[in-house]
Amino acid sequence: TYVIGEPCIDVMDRACVDECPVDCIYEGERALYIHPDECVDCGACEPVCPVEAIYYEDDLPKALEPYREDNERFFTETLPGRDEPLGTPGGASKLGPLGVDTPLVASHPKPGE
Ligand code: F3S
Ligand code: F3S
Repeated sequence: TYVIGEPCIDVMDRACVDECPVDCIYEGERALYIHPDECVDCGACEPVCPVEAIYYEDDLPKALEPYREDNERFFTETLPGRDEPLGTPGGASKLGPLGVDTPLVASHPKPGE
């Protein structure tokens, strides 16, 4: 799978979303997350991100490695304010912005902090 890392936080350019042929890039409150089981590894999203937030999982820089599991957690864990995990919705656009993040992303310092 491909993974979205920390550079996306509070930037959320969304150019990646338009490129994804399987609509597997989901929008949280402060970042976007790639569904690890829905991503077909086409790689189309990676070059269009203006802040280089997207990497193939095996090519993640060391500092961004926690985001591999964190992208997965967005779907497998019950996030704050929700009753159950998102699971495998099979498409991000029908859900729209989800208004919630993983603890890792939510705890990231806000700009200016
Ligand atoms: Fe984020 Fe880059 Fe996509 S900033 S929304 S990963 S284009
Ligand atoms: Fe979509 Fe990027 Fe995967 S375009 S299929 S999330 S490699």
